[in-house]
Amino acid sequence: MKNLVVLTGAGISAESGVKTFRDSGGLWENHNVMDVASYDGWLRNPSMVLEFYNQRRLQLADVSPNRAHLALAELEEIFNVIIITQNVDDLHERAGSKNILHIHGELTKVRSTQDENYIVDIGYTAMNLGDTAPDGSQLRPHIVWFGEAVPAIEEASKICQNADVFLIIGTSLNVYPAAGLIHYVPFFTPVYYLDPNPTQSGFSRKVTIITKNASEGMEEILKKLKSDV
Ligand code: APR
Repeated sequence: MKNLVVLTGAGISAESGVKTFRDSGGLWENHNVMDVASYDGWLRNPSMVLEFYNQRRLQLADVSPNRAHLALAELEEIFNVIIITQNVDDLHERAGSKNILHIHGELTKVRSTQDENYIVDIGYTAMNLGDTAPDGSQLRPHIVWFGEAVPAIEEASKICQNADVFLIIGTSLNVYPAAGLIHYVPFFTPVYYLDPNPTQSGFSRKVTIITKNASEGMEEILKKLKSDV
């Protein structure tokens, strides 16, 4: 089977009711992004940051995958689908996709502040100041914040090098290194970019842009990819 590599961003979860980052005047759920999604923000006010992610987990428990997540799971019948997601939600998993690389971390997991390899799944529950790892350090959200390295980016770039079809869904392509992954995709691999408000930055290669919402656009892509196989 051919490799279908998919890079997803906040836009794929928008129709499930999860807010995107850059569509609401620079605020993420009424917070300055740098207060709740940067390492400096965490150092300044850890209890506020923990509470923010506690709320995001509660919200996640209440939403469901939409038609676009489900279509990607369905494509596993005809492709080896590998999803590289910038999203910290678990909607790809709940839609049934099997190969998912979360390059910006996962909301349902927390980790030791001393040992980045000590990661625990807490589901949709809360975490508070004083909750510690076995090494005695405070637990923190397993989220890659601004100002932090993106450990999974090397694996992601290797996946992109083996893409037979590359699909980008619902991302402003504003945040690096994720936005640079397209440069690893072989030059003759077809690239589709599905977003109702796609970036205007331009591409140095041929990209088929579909200016639609994720669920509607995925119906179109699903039909096309099925008929091409
Ligand atoms: N369907 C598809 N795309 C949509 C929809 C929809 N229904 N609604 C909005 N979008 C698009 C917007 O047009 C925009 O291009 O989703 C994109 C969301 O962009 P951002 O909010 O910048 O989200 P994303 O690109 O995922 O952000 C990248 O930034 O703050 C960090 O770590 C965070 O992973 C995040 C990263």
